[in-house]
Amino acid sequence: MLQDGLVSSSCSLSGSKLLRCVLFLPLLFIFLTIHASASRLQKVLGPGPSPGPAPTPEPKPPCPSPGRRNTTFPAIFAFGDSIVDTGNNDYILTLIRANFLPYGMDFPHGTPTGRFCNGKIPADFIAEFLGVKPILPPYLRPGLTKEDLLTGVSFASGGSGFDPLTPFVVRAIPMSDQLTYFQEYIEKVKGFAGKEKADHIVSKSLALVIAGSDDLANTYYGSHAEEFLYDIDSYTSYMASSAASFAMQLYESGARKIGFIGVSPIGCIPIQRTARGGIDRNCAAEINVAAQLFNTKLSTSLHSLGETLQNATLVYIDIYSIFTHMIQNPKEYGFEEIGRGCCGTGLIELGPLCNKFTSLLCKNVSSYMFWDSYHPTERAYRILSKKFVETDLGPFYDN
Ligand SMILES: *[C@@H]1O[C@H](CO)[C@@H](O)[C@H](O)[C@H]1NC(C)=O
Ligand SMILES: *[C@@H]1O[C@H](CO)[C@@H](O)[C@H](O)[C@H]1NC(C)=O
Ligand SMILES: *[C@@H]1O[C@H](CO)[C@@H](O)[C@H](O)[C@H]1NC(C)=O
Repeated sequence: MLQDGLVSSSCSLSGSKLLRCVLFLPLLFIFLTIHASASRLQKVLGPGPSPGPAPTPEPKPPCPSPGRRNTTFPAIFAFGDSIVDTGNNDYILTLIRANFLPYGMDFPHGTPTGRFCNGKIPADFIAEFLGVKPILPPYLRPGLTKEDLLTGVSFASGGSGFDPLTPFVVRAIPMSDQLTYFQEYIEKVKGFAGKEKADHIVSKSLALVIAGSDDLANTYYGSHAEEFLYDIDSYTSYMASSAASFAMQLYESGARKIGFIGVSPIGCIPIQRTARGGIDRNCAAEINVAAQLFNTKLSTSLHSLGETLQNATLVYIDIYSIFTHMIQNPKEYGFEEIGRGCCGTGLIELGPLCNKFTSLLCKNVSSYMFWDSYHPTERAYRILSKKFVETDLGPFYDN
């Protein structure tokens, strides 16, 4: 996500480009730093996930009373990127992190946890609204209890994507490693709860996948890394087939209720408006077209895959339409500001640039749709998650 700095790596000092250069130099610097340390780490560590040190315990939420549990899904499992990463990146060697204030300032106890938001994120809200539990812990957090494991965890990692190059560059956890962790998880549960119980949990629970934004915003349009190899039509096909193969592997691991959330109109996130929206900071149309193209292909491939997999329900969950509706009708949702993030100037800050030392915050975060220049606020995430649970998960309830 930080690679956007590369957008203006060829700074020219003429006209409105100057502003763009000035705005993006800090990001370019961060990207280069990440890139350099990522390659260094890689030499040291070799490939594969590396659980990091320094466990920072997350505040324990109040236990949900057993009567409130919604038995439709015994557990929730999340895979993908920062939209559902509840803190895994705190335990790996990446700079794509959010475990410092003001991130988490509205999380229970005001604690930064690694969630890329001021508070809870969709992985938590979906678990909450389904009656499973109020927050979804990250799998890599040390000291998870049996109960934590039995009711689900997130395997997601901020900066990841369906294109393996996307997590590689920022050293996020690739989708393939998220799957390996899932299989390791299943073995653990078999170990203490028995095979039958583990099979039941995996097959009856919701496996939720959301990725693709970082492939488009960072890898394709940000660093232009894949533009030489693919036009956008073939790149989005590649992303969709990688997503379908991930679905297939989840199925082979035992998951039977698999939901994929598509990509939002990421041309409208504050950083893209700043980078590509011109002097008026309009939505970047080209990226929105790409997002829609990917969504269509994802939906089609999941549908055809679903028809071939016995006993499985595969659901494509649309985020694009409601997100667009929120941006076009902010007042209807109680938002005063949709063009900039709450953190700092709201034009470029995210990750390390959004911090308590240099970033002033907006007065009322609830009236902002975006928390930083890339991620929605907790209130926006709550609205989106409510829509998913109320209108999209229906196909899962019957089987
Ligand atoms: C679980 O929640 C869903 C969505 O709110 C609802 O449709 C379903 O009936 C609930 N099931 C139980 C057992 O409470
Ligand atoms: C599908 O469900 C039936 C009935 O529960 C079961 O016998 C069969 O083994 C399942 N098939 C697969 C591939 O999971
Ligand atoms: C903050 O914004 C929310 C959402 O628009 C609104 O309901 C609330 O009254 C605002 N609070 C203040 C102190 O202005």
